[in-house]
Amino acid sequence: MRTETSKLSKVDVSRRNLITGTGKAVVGAAIISAGGGLISKADATVTPEQTPWGYTKLDPKKTADLAYENWYKNYCCYAVSAAILDQLREKIGGPYDHLPAEAFIWGHGGAVGWGTLCGTLTGAGIVTSFAAGKKGEEILNDVIAWYGETELPIYKPAKPKAVFKHTNVSDSPLCHISVGKWMKKEGVALKSPERKDRCARVAADVAFHTVTLLNKFADGEFEMESDSQSAEYGITAQNNCMECHGNDVPEPKGI
Ligand code: HEC
Repeated sequence: MRTETSKLSKVDVSRRNLITGTGKAVVGAAIISAGGGLISKADATVTPEQTPWGYTKLDPKKTADLAYENWYKNYCCYAVSAAILDQLREKIGGPYDHLPAEAFIWGHGGAVGWGTLCGTLTGAGIVTSFAAGKKGEEILNDVIAWYGETELPIYKPAKPKAVFKHTNVSDSPLCHISVGKWMKKEGVALKSPERKDRCARVAADVAFHTVTLLNKFADGEFEMESDSQSAEYGITAQNNCMECHGNDVPEPKGI
């Protein structure tokens, strides 16, 4: 990555007002829109503390291809975050020049192998936050809901590194459950080439879907579809209540 520090040391007060304000302002040839999050590379003098840093529309298919290849470098969380951040660094630059996706490798295996949030979703959350700020949380909410209810993987690599038979609906964003259900169906081990390729393809799918929603956001057309989990259930939760509680799902103490 490039190491341009000049842009970082400069706090452009007038630009800050433009970026944090609402609506659109034309600066030189560039259109800056806080709502749509569009910033041209030439004018990207926002500093790291001024998040969100902006977003420009990306090609979902190209992003999916990058994520698939990235998985084999540093696994799932890096796969998704780098697929998007590397392109934003190229197209927008500014503070993105100083955000190496290598810092997010830890999300692999649901946070260094603890099987919690699927690393692809951690990667998506890192990106949506830098790209879209608070609205990024809504985008992530919908990406997580989609992940749990969709038959994955969908992505078909041009040159697959392994071939396998099954797809599955995880009904959960947890790495352990998503991978575990698939491993049971496919009958393979964690270290098998098939499992690795399944996760690489899921990374491609999550990158594709995240960019699709971010592109809607850039067009000012993104509306969150899934309700907030805690508002809906009265407790922070995944949707597969009965897989853990059996028929005896406890009632929350109040919503
Ligand atoms: C990954 C497993 C898992 C899932 C999925 C899950 N729970 Fe739980 N939940 C637990 C565990 C473990 C506890 C701790 C209490 C216990 O052992 O019953 C708990 C506690 C709770 C409590 C607080 C206990 C109480 O008596 O007040 C509520 C309410 C609850 N869950 C509701 C739900 C609902 C509703 C869903 C689905 C939307 C859900 N849970 C999904 C594992 C899970």
